[in-house]
Amino acid sequence: MNLLVTGGLGFIGSNFIRHILGYRQSWKITNLDKMTYSGNSDNHADLLKDSRYAFVNGDICNKKIVNDLLTKSIDAIVHFAAETHVDRSICGPEEFSITNVTGTLTLLECSKNVRLHRFVHISTDEVYGAKKYGKSVETDRLNATLGNPYALTKEAADKLVQSYFLHPNHLPITIVRPSNNYGPYQYPEKFIPLAITNALENKPIPIYGDGKQMRDWLFVEDNCEAILAVLERGKAGEVYNIGGTVFRDYTNKEIVEIILDTLKKPKSLMVYVTDRPHHDVRYSLNYEKLMRDTGWGPRTSLSGGLEKTIKWYVDNHAWWERIKSGQFKEYYLKQYGGGNK
Ligand code: NAD
Ligand code: TYD
Repeated sequence: MNLLVTGGLGFIGSNFIRHILGYRQSWKITNLDKMTYSGNSDNHADLLKDSRYAFVNGDICNKKIVNDLLTKSIDAIVHFAAETHVDRSICGPEEFSITNVTGTLTLLECSKNVRLHRFVHISTDEVYGAKKYGKSVETDRLNATLGNPYALTKEAADKLVQSYFLHPNHLPITIVRPSNNYGPYQYPEKFIPLAITNALENKPIPIYGDGKQMRDWLFVEDNCEAILAVLERGKAGEVYNIGGTVFRDYTNKEIVEIILDTLKKPKSLMVYVTDRPHHDVRYSLNYEKLMRDTGWGPRTSLSGGLEKTIKWYVDNHAWWERIKSGQFKEYYLKQYGGGNK
């Protein structure tokens, strides 16, 4: 299989490429990534020597680049590239609309010129909007929260992708909607790596509002296995939820408590800050359809996944210190103010 992966220098994309090269010896991967602030060349440093891996620095909105790549006998596209951080989308939605909507549309349009075996679009559970009780199923109405441009642009992209399965395009698309991922190589603006790295630096950990919000936390390795299962055994035209919760939901506050206990740091590092506007209280996914069609199921408990993730950040200080000492500082000051350094 010859794959085109978009956004493979980011968190999930780089984990996915490493997963495929490890488990599918004969596959080849081309990674198209624009190297935005979250696309990190350190994330593929160990892959560059592998002759099965090629990197192209480019934008998914650039038709010429995408068309050129697609003439190289690509069998399938796995489309991760996106602007992904909710807080950044609230402050500046333009890039979100360009990459998440126009970029996805560009890939779809260019895909019409070739014969693909599959186009896997990586959507998100955020397209369902908040789910106060119960679990979202694939047939639920998409209802991204107004005021959260990340979720809104992902919803728009999701709908565009679905439409390309239909007449007259008939592209072999499959959509996956994973829940919140965590694990190695996650940019430290997201909640779990921010909490771990701030704790390691003995800095306050900002908790929005009352800290009672819940996410359906999914260990990134389990997500990579699920996407591979969808690529190999999922059906064209289908949507698959990928969730991580096995036993029960955890609140944001409980997650920070586990991190602090593991690192033997004081609870006084927890600081409650002004809530995010339009903050979705809870996401939760029903992933029975994926289990039924592919046999996949999440293997990592939250405590096991957090232990592995914390160990990775402890062992890879240089990776996140480089990020936190750069442009990130400016973002952090703007987002959390000077009082939370
Ligand atoms: P990330 O922000 O870590 O990585 C995004 C990557 O896309 C970066 O390498 C960036 O350089 C690249 N990129 C951005 N704009 C681009 C463009 N115009 N052209 C080419 N490359 C571009 O994101 P992530 O957390 O790895 O998320 C990957 C995908 O998974 C996204 O589509 C996201 O919506 C989805 N998703 C993420 C989560 C999560 O918890 N992280 C959960 C559900 C779904
Ligand atoms: P985040 O990692 O930004 O993912 P998403 O918004 O896509 O779910 O946030 C996860 C949860 O953690 C969410 O409820 C917001 C909360 N959060 C905080 O409490 N403090 C923070 O500093 C951040 C970044 C997030």
